[in-house]
Amino acid sequence: MQDFSRLDDLVQQALGIIEKAGSENELKELKVTYLGKKGKVTSYFKALGSAPAQERKALGQQVNRARQAIENALAVREEAIKLDALDQKLEARKVDVTLPGRPFGRGTVHILDQVMDRILDLFSGLGFDVVLGPEVETSWNNFDALNFPPDHPARDMQDTVFIEDEIVLRTHTSPVQVRTMKSRKPPLRVVCPGVVYRRDTPDATHAPAFFQVEGLMVGEHVSFAELKGTLNLFARKLFGEGDTRFRPSFFPFTEPSAEMDVRCFACGGEGCALCKQSGWIEILGCGMVDPAVFDAVGYDNEKYTGWAFGMGVERIAMLRHAIDDIRLFAENDLRFLKQFV
Ligand code: PHE
Repeated sequence: MQDFSRLDDLVQQALGIIEKAGSENELKELKVTYLGKKGKVTSYFKALGSAPAQERKALGQQVNRARQAIENALAVREEAIKLDALDQKLEARKVDVTLPGRPFGRGTVHILDQVMDRILDLFSGLGFDVVLGPEVETSWNNFDALNFPPDHPARDMQDTVFIEDEIVLRTHTSPVQVRTMKSRKPPLRVVCPGVVYRRDTPDATHAPAFFQVEGLMVGEHVSFAELKGTLNLFARKLFGEGDTRFRPSFFPFTEPSAEMDVRCFACGGEGCALCKQSGWIEILGCGMVDPAVFDAVGYDNEKYTGWAFGMGVERIAMLRHAIDDIRLFAENDLRFLKQFV
């Protein structure tokens, strides 16, 4: 038979011990000791059955209070132990804010991006919008709309990467101009930068993927004079004051077509290795938009005329910075890239 008059002492004793407990494990053991199946407080619950009936209610409440007090004490102590542990952890990992920082290498803008930005800046300044398009294209946008005949060699499996029958990796960014004309009405001025793909074996001057910037201007009375004026201005800004010339050429989508040369800026036109002794350096292809292209995109080719141009960004960068191998751009060699900070 339990002596209920000693229950308060038992609780006092328990609270004292709990307060000194140093770990969560110790607390678990104490919980068993007092509140477990055979615990010291639990035994009082069991004794209630044999207590005189008229005292049972009051005694029951007393035991309940005892259990409550011990449960509270356990919870309070557990919280304190957890906080202590956290404090210790934080203390151990303290950051020393007085330590000097570790040097952090600064990146550079890739030379191709620099040249691309420069080109786009120049044309933006002349009122051209920069327009982007997908690299995976329909062969209609890439070839048919641009007046390539069905048997044109550029469509060859040897030259173009085919994804499916009528789906290709674009071989130039001209399809972006086709898309633009299909969705906008003239007048318009756009430049289309982006990666293009051709089935080339890489060597010093060929890469299977490279960057282009192409441009297009369409309106009423747009003439070859504007083509020359605009591209001359562009060439002077990019390569410095110097002569330019336009040589007759051929593209399916322009008529007449031309290649544009700048006077060799390495030798001034005397003839050197860079210009292969010719005194001139070719920088882009251009021409008046063929009326068949306007037909394909639904422009009235009696009313509108236009001109277009296209250039390889790697080639421009190689010329401007005397880089002799196109593969250097993609090799990620910091010794190369850091030269163009
Ligand atoms: N699309 C041509 C190419 O990829 C470049 C070009 C564009 C030429 C516009 C003339 C006019 O080579």
